[in-house]
Amino acid sequence: MIRRSSLNGDERHLRLREIGLERGIAMRNQMFTGLQPSGDGLHIGNYLSAVKGVLALQETHDCILCVVDYHAITVPYEPGALRGRTLTPATEYLSAGVDPDRVTLVVQSDLPEHVELAWLLGCLMPLPKLEQLPTYKDKKARYGSPRFGLLAYPILMASDIMIYKADTVPVGKDQLPHIEFTREVVRKFNQTFGETFPEPQARLNEGAYVPSLTGNGAMSKSDGKGNIDLADDPETIRGKLARAVTDPARGRRSDPGEPTRCPIYAIHACFTPQAMLDEVAGGCRTATIGCLDCKRILADQMIDELAPIQARRAELIAHPETVRGVLAQGAATCRPRARETLREVRQRMGID
Ligand code: TRP
Repeated sequence: MIRRSSLNGDERHLRLREIGLERGIAMRNQMFTGLQPSGDGLHIGNYLSAVKGVLALQETHDCILCVVDYHAITVPYEPGALRGRTLTPATEYLSAGVDPDRVTLVVQSDLPEHVELAWLLGCLMPLPKLEQLPTYKDKKARYGSPRFGLLAYPILMASDIMIYKADTVPVGKDQLPHIEFTREVVRKFNQTFGETFPEPQARLNEGAYVPSLTGNGAMSKSDGKGNIDLADDPETIRGKLARAVTDPARGRRSDPGEPTRCPIYAIHACFTPQAMLDEVAGGCRTATIGCLDCKRILADQMIDELAPIQARRAELIAHPETVRGVLAQGAATCRPRARETLREVRQRMGID
């Protein structure tokens, strides 16, 4: 049975929403994103881009944050280390203010339905598409001898998104090819078996550009020296800022600087209210404040904003059972929805 729609995927989705509204079914947009269970906590770059994006979306969307442990085993890894890491992303997002009453936090392996749908979708997609994805080629080059799971990674990711019929997927730039691939899977499925899934849209995590303290590019996980972590205590924050690179024109305190050339100023812009920020910029240009003064003001602002996050974080780390409870509740919320989609897909594919 082959049915085609004259609308493209996005138009079709809007139409489906209209039909829902006409019938008085209030449909909120569904957001889904996957979090890698890496052992590292978040740095302020992650906080200001990815996490703040989720904090904004939780107001308007149904949100699912999923710790993707089945994706984490597609390259060589340590079982003992992985086990300890599953709680980390949930702990960090909850500390940063994600509200567990509004956002569903869940662990991928608690829902084997994701894997079952991935198998069904994998039987639909041609192999060359998967071999051409840049993420696959990169990891193949990095780790050598790729496993089947690495090749299948984007299929599982498409399944994560599609099983909740998500339409909004916050990701970093590196993940865009995977979202494009997911859209292809959706189109292929809908064309082959009838209208079932919306075409998801990527939403880029780039609320703010946060430069590395070393002055080289953006703050990133692989560049430990250039980061400030959400978990850093006030002394560590002050120390890291004191050592950070500033505008090279300010060799001496009496040399005027240009804030737009200074990584510290870019970070200031993320934490400091506008009036104070203007004062700092003026003081830098006229050399009436020194870099150390400027950094001290930034440290005070940052320490204030991070204090409630750190208090929640300490509490959650002392009580991991709280995080486990949130994740168990998340699995209970997701399970009926995942099963319903699987039932529909199996029926359309003739496996019922
Ligand atoms: N591949 C994503 C990453 O490395 C994680 C991920 C898995 C994901 N499944 C997803 C992201 C579904 C968005 C939607 O960041």
